[in-house]
Amino acid sequence: MFKVNENYLKLPGSYLFSTIGKKVNAFVQDNPEKKIIRLGIGDVTQPLAPAIIQAFHTAVDEMADAKTFRGYAPDLGYEFLRNAIRENDYIARGCQIEADEIFVSDGAKCDSGNIQEIFSQDNKIAVCDPVYPVYVDTNVMAGRTGTYDSRKETWSNIIYMPCTAENNFAPELPKETPDLIYLCFPNNPTGSTITKKQLQEWVDYANKVGAVIIYDAAYEAYISEEDVPHTIYECEGARTCAIELRSFSKNAGFTGVRLGFTVIPKELKAGEVSLHSLWARRHGTKYNGAPYIVQRAGEAVYSDAGKVQLKQQVDYYMNNAKYIYDGLKSAGYTVSGGVNAPYIWLKAPNKMTSWEFFDYLLEKANVVGTPGSGFGPSGETYFRLTAFGSYENTMEAMERIKKL
Ligand SMILES: Cc1ncc(COP(=O)(O)O)c(C=O)c1O
Repeated sequence: MFKVNENYLKLPGSYLFSTIGKKVNAFVQDNPEKKIIRLGIGDVTQPLAPAIIQAFHTAVDEMADAKTFRGYAPDLGYEFLRNAIRENDYIARGCQIEADEIFVSDGAKCDSGNIQEIFSQDNKIAVCDPVYPVYVDTNVMAGRTGTYDSRKETWSNIIYMPCTAENNFAPELPKETPDLIYLCFPNNPTGSTITKKQLQEWVDYANKVGAVIIYDAAYEAYISEEDVPHTIYECEGARTCAIELRSFSKNAGFTGVRLGFTVIPKELKAGEVSLHSLWARRHGTKYNGAPYIVQRAGEAVYSDAGKVQLKQQVDYYMNNAKYIYDGLKSAGYTVSGGVNAPYIWLKAPNKMTSWEFFDYLLEKANVVGTPGSGFGPSGETYFRLTAFGSYENTMEAMERIKKL
């Protein structure tokens, strides 16, 4: 008789966004006349920029001609895209990353979930609390996290690094030494970030204790302040301790198109074994490459026209972020985020729990957000709103919230 991977049975409840979906669907069924505004899930709403659409069209036409048709993509991704990434995201920022240290993929969710596979099962992970749930759940599936305490909502074998108002939503170095450290800045869900000096402390710490930092920079395009690092490789010594994850979802609207990449410098080694070669082996065995047309569209992100158009798109969302942030502030809420990230993190009023505030907002304002507790115990009593809606919907949602 076959057996299932019992680690899956340890996962508590359903994925955060399916619970939200169910609640919203039930509300819509009971109140079909109400107009719901969704500022919950981190999905973009603006159409793909013209430069990207143009690149798609050209690539599709190439696929229609035997002379230019492309089949399987190279394992690591096409060189035209890896070179564009290297030049624009790394060399232009003074970071020495080679094109063959970049692994093109179909997005940061898969990469952030899969990367743990190349590490030993007895490695101990450290995560921020609250956290993007994928880092934790994929380690649960791999059997690395121990037992679940449903009262505390924590795993026995994970080091939690609380990110609260007291530490300005920036984690402190953990007391217990981890093997793998997941960091995400600008942060989902809190919208916070850390300075280059703070990130350098993490890099120095990881090199000192022999840990690897898995640095998720999916929201890099939203950085507006000077002192915030765009990549972990701006820090000295990051090449021997850091893996970086990137996504085209939020900077270029590729959530439905699917494209991302992971950077693993060749110096990053456990003894004599390079993580680069392990990931190359994994990538080559389990992945057959992002589609050619999507990689061409990704290349257009770095074209002159693409850069101008995408800056406008990011500005559009960040204008929403400012609108939400200012609106909540003026209505008396305690608010953070929204400056270097498209997420606004607010304290639920009147001692409500995160889910109480979710229900309250859904019922009274017909606005959907995300309960902070869904991201970890330190997210309890907090709530996340996203700036990814249309300007009109964002304005209307804020008018409704202000009237509560
Ligand atoms: C922190 C973080 N990493 C990764 C992702 C997923 O990115 P992708 O769409 O490239 O899979 C998200 C999406 O919301 C995210 O918030």
